[in-house]
Amino acid sequence: MSYPYQIKSLEEYKVAYQKSITDPEGFWGEIAENFTWRKKWDKVLNWNFKEPKVEWFAGGKLNITENCLDRHLPALADKPAIIWEPNNPEERVRIVTYERLHKRVCQFAQVLKNNGVKKGDRVCIYMGMVPELAYAVLACARIGAIHSVIFGGFSAQSIADRLEDAKAEYIVTCDGAYRGGKDIPLKSIIDDALIGNKVVKRVIVYTRTRTAVSMIKGRDVWWEDEMLKVTDTLPVEDFGKSEEMDAEDPLFILYTSGSTGKPKGVVHTIGGYMVWTNYTFVNTFQYQPGQVHFCTADIGWITGHSYIIYGPLSAGATSLMFEGVPTWPDAGRFWDIVDKYKVNILYTAPTAIRSLMSYGLDPLKGKDLSSLKVLGTVGEPINEEAWHWYDENIGKKKCPIVDTWWQTETAGILISNLAGVTPSKPSWATLPLPGIQPVLVDDRGKEVTEKDEEGLYKGNLCMKAPWPGILRTTYGDHERCRTNYFATYENLYFTGDGALRNDDGFFRITGRVDDVLNVSGHRIGTAEVENAINMHASVVESAVVGFPHEVKGQGIYAYVIVSAMHGDEEHTRKDISQTVARIIGPIAKPDRIQFVNGLPKTRSGKIMRRILRKIAEGEMDKLGDTSTLLDPGVVDEIKSGKL
Ligand code: WTA
Repeated sequence: MSYPYQIKSLEEYKVAYQKSITDPEGFWGEIAENFTWRKKWDKVLNWNFKEPKVEWFAGGKLNITENCLDRHLPALADKPAIIWEPNNPEERVRIVTYERLHKRVCQFAQVLKNNGVKKGDRVCIYMGMVPELAYAVLACARIGAIHSVIFGGFSAQSIADRLEDAKAEYIVTCDGAYRGGKDIPLKSIIDDALIGNKVVKRVIVYTRTRTAVSMIKGRDVWWEDEMLKVTDTLPVEDFGKSEEMDAEDPLFILYTSGSTGKPKGVVHTIGGYMVWTNYTFVNTFQYQPGQVHFCTADIGWITGHSYIIYGPLSAGATSLMFEGVPTWPDAGRFWDIVDKYKVNILYTAPTAIRSLMSYGLDPLKGKDLSSLKVLGTVGEPINEEAWHWYDENIGKKKCPIVDTWWQTETAGILISNLAGVTPSKPSWATLPLPGIQPVLVDDRGKEVTEKDEEGLYKGNLCMKAPWPGILRTTYGDHERCRTNYFATYENLYFTGDGALRNDDGFFRITGRVDDVLNVSGHRIGTAEVENAINMHASVVESAVVGFPHEVKGQGIYAYVIVSAMHGDEEHTRKDISQTVARIIGPIAKPDRIQFVNGLPKTRSGKIMRRILRKIAEGEMDKLGDTSTLLDPGVVDEIKSGKL
């Protein structure tokens, strides 16, 4: 594979950027020529942010899996597409070549069809990090079904909510998943999610942990049995046939948290998503054919979708998929993997780096990291200390670090340096990729033109124009998409993040300006956590804010009013945490729960989160004006009880 659109110098970046802004249709049309289309598009771009309506490559016909698999077969059939490292380092690794991956995807695509899945149907995937998860995702895309992957850390209730929202009739899962020292009983969680569900017709269960599971006649089938049927019975001419799709047909739904209500289903469509993930993969990481790319994210999040599956595979790359966690069996696990497979690109999250930093340098001893060429981070702002630790101890000061800023809604990286090509700056995401037009606005939507005391422009980060990977809608509720992203500021896409810009045009992301938390790089809405806490029988009211956490980036701080304790405070705290784990999942458990008698409210009854945030952050002297509160006395009480 060659990538004629790979930017090789700062000069080339400037030229590409300029062209992408002055002639976006010419620019992206030319790049899209490098893919396999069954029919070329009629129009590169139609858009308005009012409705909003965005179409890329309208009229184009393709199948994304032909771009990820079939087109690579002549040159890359026996090259590894996926290298799979199991949770337990003693277990056999699996190297899945492009030929094998193609075959398995075709086979499972037929399994889906045999089980009734048709183009446009929603298939919910709840699996551990096994190659079969990638097969399932790609098999959906092959037949035009819309996949919706749910992260293994979400509870039965969260799955039930998502199944209902997506009106999904099919599920692919595993008996269980291994993660570090834990076995997660995935099928049993699915069973709980399906209590009372009358919509789901079929659950396909892949055997991973050999845990005992219940199998319901007429609904549940084993992956292995279904795969065997395909090899036995399929007419040769049908095997592997892929559905012809419109560029603007949905590819997947991925649920993500916002500042209000339940998580929303972000919808991405095929053509634009393919071009964007491929382009950003090839350019940001400066991928060279033959290199091994290791993205440590879980496929349950957008990072795994875009930079384990679609970006790398569409580029004919070798993508390393790791089933386990960085600290098991010990904190040297990532470095063992880098050494074992001669990893060239390592893409991880600041929270993982900070967690590994806390183990010191011992876990690095004897590990050969000399294969590394590029390091990347994603998911949250990276602090300078972690940046330097990564640079010195992992990259040995020889590897560019790309600090990639993006979101579930953006499909791929929007702001980042390009490895070794454009300049980097610790804790700055730096420059926008071609096609990206960021703008900082004040709370009234006016572009920020004045610098602050430190000589930086500071504001809410928005985008002026669409790029191929921008979300198209939120599933089943287009109005929600409009109000969430396109209504805050006229004619702009609002990211929810605050940012700084310097005179070089570099951006530094400062974090969310809405009520969304970023805990260990996981997006969690404060409203969601409050709703879950309020489900606890003794809870009267609660307010949730973030606070700085050394490893997680942000922790969850809950102020809770209870009508009665059950047992002592500690016991009640545990019960509340357990309730949150049940309703959302273990990832949303509060780090701190402070019991209070009242919450600071304005006379109109609005909770003053700003004050609660400052108290949680320990900035007692920066509470600001509290005189407008209904009962200013509660603030002193809360301050004195701070955990
Ligand atoms: C944050 C993850 C600073 C940001 C790809 C964004 C970052 C949210 C960075 C999206 C970064 C992501 N620097 N902050 N390099 N990358 N974020 O949807 O607040 O899970 O809005 O997508 O993560 O999280 P999401």
